[in-house]
Amino acid sequence: MEEKRQRRGVDFFGLAALDYPVPRHADTLWYSLGGITLGSFIVAFLSGFGLTQFYNPSPEAAYGSVRFITESPVLGLFRGLHYWSVNIGFALLILHMLRVLFTAAYRPPRTVNYLVGVALLVTVFMLYFTGTVIRWDQEAYEALEHFLATAGLLGGAGRFFSSDFALSTSMLARMYGLHIAVLPAVLIAGVVVHLLYVRYFGISPKPFQDQEEYERSKAGRTFSLHLRRLLGYGLILFGVLLGLAYLAPPGLLNAPVPGVESTKPPWPFWVFYPLEGVMGAGGILAGSFLILAGLLLVPSLGLVIRAERTRFLVGNLIVAAGVIVWFVLLLVTYLSPTMKHL
Ligand code: HEM
Repeated sequence: MEEKRQRRGVDFFGLAALDYPVPRHADTLWYSLGGITLGSFIVAFLSGFGLTQFYNPSPEAAYGSVRFITESPVLGLFRGLHYWSVNIGFALLILHMLRVLFTAAYRPPRTVNYLVGVALLVTVFMLYFTGTVIRWDQEAYEALEHFLATAGLLGGAGRFFSSDFALSTSMLARMYGLHIAVLPAVLIAGVVVHLLYVRYFGISPKPFQDQEEYERSKAGRTFSLHLRRLLGYGLILFGVLLGLAYLAPPGLLNAPVPGVESTKPPWPFWVFYPLEGVMGAGGILAGSFLILAGLLLVPSLGLVIRAERTRFLVGNLIVAAGVIVWFVLLLVTYLSPTMKHL
């Protein structure tokens, strides 16, 4: 690749810097999920930029502006792209995380990058939540009420999230600020750090691959070639997103009616729904704590289990158990009727 460029002349853009070696398995779909997730979030970012030009974040006008966007053929397509890129991006993010967990890529020296990944997951959750709220329909309003009730359980620590914290503005305007400025900035900074670490440590070897075989698998494979493959995956993804945006545009419920609980949360929050049925808003807090504790427990196994294979096996068993519990909770939410929790 580098030779080809040299034959073509001066490398004005310094693209030769992308010709560093990467292992062959980095090209497989399983190991490319992080890059494809990033592609989906780039579509979300660009379509979101278009939507902000037409969205009105005042509580009186927000619902009307979303209706206006939804009813316009071009803006509606932008909204569809935003909706689907976020939902598919979220699903891809979970698959990327499962790849990292099942291949034990969290082991040293990549543990700090794993923790950066966990911070990215929390940021994406918050982006999803604030995005739901600013739609300002019935589901949005109920999501905000559940969030405020959960923050209320945190006492003084949750005051920042309460409406009393800033009496000069609406909760909706604050959520909008988080959604379009603060959280994207945190996400972009986090992704940059994440990718710099990936560049620095390289993609992890396959489980139990010995060092020599790992080095041999880099022969003739460069990041430029990997990037081309990622662009291919990205184009397919974009086609799927466009198709979904056109054929299955996202809906909009009625304007919010306070004090009513008639909706279920969006699917990324389904995991909390049955827990809320048992513990009220405390279920959201307990569920979040358990997910985070589980994500921190798996890489900590290395502190107590020294034998490589045993650690790998126990880690995989814990992750598999977590996935089963997650699926069961999703299924229970799917099958259960809408319930009043607050
Ligand atoms: C916005 C979210 C995220 C983006 C855009 C992202 C992107 C990426 C990319 C492009 C890679 C290179 C390899 C690949 O494509 O699989 C990667 C690797 C990695 N990611 Fe993520 N990631 C995100 C979230 C996460 C999360 C939630 C975790 C774990 C909790 C995580 C942990 C890791 C680790 C440990 C690696 C190194 C893997 C290895 O060397 O085999 N990432 N990420």
